[in-house]
Amino acid sequence: MTPRRATITAIGHYVPEKVLSNKELEKMVDTNDEWIRSRTGIRERRILAQGATSDLAVKAIEKVLEFRGINATEIEVIIVATVTPDMFFPATACIIQDKIGAHNAWGFDLSAACSGFLYALTTGAKLVESGTYSKVLVVGADKMSSIVDYKDRNTCILFGDGAGAVLLEPSDDPGYGVLDNRLYTDGSGGAYLYMKGGGSLHPATHETVDKRMHYIYQDGKAVFKVAVIGMAEVASEIMQRNNLKGDDVAWLVPHQANLRIIDATADRMGISRDKVMINIDKYGNTTAATIPLCLSEWWECGKLKRGQNIVLAAFGAGYTWGASLVKWSLANPAKS
Ligand code: UT7
Repeated sequence: MTPRRATITAIGHYVPEKVLSNKELEKMVDTNDEWIRSRTGIRERRILAQGATSDLAVKAIEKVLEFRGINATEIEVIIVATVTPDMFFPATACIIQDKIGAHNAWGFDLSAACSGFLYALTTGAKLVESGTYSKVLVVGADKMSSIVDYKDRNTCILFGDGAGAVLLEPSDDPGYGVLDNRLYTDGSGGAYLYMKGGGSLHPATHETVDKRMHYIYQDGKAVFKVAVIGMAEVASEIMQRNNLKGDDVAWLVPHQANLRIIDATADRMGISRDKVMINIDKYGNTTAATIPLCLSEWWECGKLKRGQNIVLAAFGAGYTWGASLVKWSLANPAKS
């Protein structure tokens, strides 16, 4: 029997209008535009002035539903990858379900930081492949500005807010869609990138607030070293497993944490720079949103063609990392 395969049948993204430039950050912390651009590749990022992660997600999802021409009531499952849920509970998926009126869907949040979208895509694809579900929304959304310490120059220059969403449905041709996934976790990396306060270990108190424990902490150098190796290895692994050489891959979609990590990953994979999706300059690191944000922008510009092999790769807190291989099946918006 031919296996049932999940494919992306609609995609959308949203970034808030407010821009936070490197120049503006210069007024907030001891940093400068030249340092930020040369060390990270970031020129500016977007900030959601009002509202929550669910609001970012809803805007991305509305585009998905509109393009696919379906009502939210047809959605069966909503998976939300985020580290900035609207609140601890209920899950942001529940809040989104209510806001979009997806009354027939169940859903849940998934916490895998910058690898969140790939964890969610894999999970969603398996739900479709199982034959049980035919319309699964996979969302990567983060309002990073809600957990960034704008007094810490090590981290505040890196992050921005955004959301991306895809609809997964059964593929009409099993040769197309989400073909393969590899996901990894190494919990011993937890000490290098975390937000310590607010959980059951350190519930919010005056002391946790005074100690600035409700913000992101990152040992950038330590994460940088493992991110370069992890992302390149898992992306190469997915290529090898599927007998692909650099020339066979149309696009690499790397998590956008640092341009130097992206370049090193592409080099190790033998993929030329013109085949790497990069928008870190405009948005910084939007955590779970980076990969769908790239994919959606490139698709909107008509740069994705049916049959292209696309490798998605990410590395983030946990540590978590992974890669997915997608054979693109969605016609670009201009042609449809
Ligand atoms: O998305 C999740 C996974 N996260 C990542 O993949 C991020 C990985 N790490 C990185 O991207 C980089 O490590 C950073 C961009 C965070 C930092 O770049 P770096 O080249 O590793 O710099 P560094 O932390 O080693 O700092 C170098 C110097 C230090 O000064 P000294 O000690 O050499 O005098 C820092 O104090 O740069 C200084 N510095 C800054 N200077 C101006 C650190 N942050 C800044 C800043 N502006 N914002």
